[in-house]
Amino acid sequence: MNPHALPDLDAFWMPFTANRQFKAQPRLLVAAEGMHYTSHDGRQILDGVAGLWCVNAGHGRRPIVEAVQRQIAELDYAPTFNMGHPLPFEFARRLVEHTPGDLNHVFFTNSGSESVDTALKIALAYHRARGEGQRTRFIGRERGYHGVGFGGISVGGIASNRKYFGNLLSGIDHLPHTLLPENRFSRGLPEHGLQLADELERIVALHDASNIAAVIVEPVAGSAGVILPPKGYLQRLRQLCDKHGILLIFDEVITGFGRLGAPFAAQYFDVQPDMITSAKGLTNGCVPMGAVFVREHIHDAFMHGPEGLIELFHGYTYSGHPLACAAGLAALDIYQEEGLFTRAASLASPWEEALHALKSLPHVVDIRNLGLIGAVELAPKPGAAVTRAFEVFQRCYERGVLVRVTGDTLAFSPPLIIESGHIDQLFTTLRDVLQEMA
Ligand SMILES: Cc1ncc(COP(=O)(O)O)c(C=O)c1O
Repeated sequence: MNPHALPDLDAFWMPFTANRQFKAQPRLLVAAEGMHYTSHDGRQILDGVAGLWCVNAGHGRRPIVEAVQRQIAELDYAPTFNMGHPLPFEFARRLVEHTPGDLNHVFFTNSGSESVDTALKIALAYHRARGEGQRTRFIGRERGYHGVGFGGISVGGIASNRKYFGNLLSGIDHLPHTLLPENRFSRGLPEHGLQLADELERIVALHDASNIAAVIVEPVAGSAGVILPPKGYLQRLRQLCDKHGILLIFDEVITGFGRLGAPFAAQYFDVQPDMITSAKGLTNGCVPMGAVFVREHIHDAFMHGPEGLIELFHGYTYSGHPLACAAGLAALDIYQEEGLFTRAASLASPWEEALHALKSLPHVVDIRNLGLIGAVELAPKPGAAVTRAFEVFQRCYERGVLVRVTGDTLAFSPPLIIESGHIDQLFTTLRDVLQEMA
């Protein structure tokens, strides 16, 4: 491919980016195929992060491309407010074949952030529909990431995503995060920290369970640098939520669609949440779309009252958009045909080995992994937190490997089609860069 001329970079205000730094040293991607991007200067870049944890089946998959092309020619847009078109019905039906237990109903959104806000609103309206409208409080977790809507940043626990934006939603408490020093260099799920789930009892004692609507957690937290649940932790949260009539929402925006070697983390951990929020891998990242999966009894609580009345005053112009559904259905076919919902399970062990072989490299203070997720945490440069990992990220990119940096942690979440040669390249590049920076 011919190298591309750089466009004028001024007008686009880039999200979650150091804009001035980027525009001085731009990194533009112009094409993608399989495990690789092509950079604007014509280099092949191994995708170690599935775009942004979303391109689970790899890039440029023809069946998805063709499905979207066909769809836009046939039906470009149709509303789903008091109207319908066949695709979201078909897509929802297909999706719930893969959700755990009775998560049989699907509310479509356009992003993970919207899925989170939707789930929180459903939780409030559900309790109200059952005559427990005083259950309005939410419990999130420190270092949690639930997108950037006001609901999401309120239950989220990353200070920089919250501190600029005023008072947020009221009535929120946070569980402690589960990143403990005694768990450093754990392989897979950490041993210590189960008791942190019991902090829920403290919060319940403070407010009384009768005021609490839902707990929302990521089964594996991604954006704050890959934080794993201690063994038994999610099971314990489930027990406590059951005891107190509190809904449990799993935010599976990154863990959904095969990341851990099961369709959803809920199946991997064998814990049944009341709702799952999703996005990203739902359409293989090709067309923006999110989905909230809702258990039967929650959905049914709304289906009372006069039949001519709207049951839930919520929705988006693009809920169930034809192009997104077409992309999602084609992605689901690929996931099924290629066994991608379970492939991470067979790669988890070589992935873990390759990752933990980096343990003795300079600046490495922790390594974490589960399924096809990995993280290498670096010691911060004295007086210059986050700069070391960012430099690693830049150097890896120069050497043809895309990794993700969050704080002082490097995170890895490759497309689920990754082969062992790619795993070697990913971690050899990282090794070389870390040694070079010693
Ligand atoms: C767990 C989780 N929830 C929500 C979101 C927000 O998704 P989006 O960026 O599509 O709004 C993300 C994005 O990374 C996420 O990781």
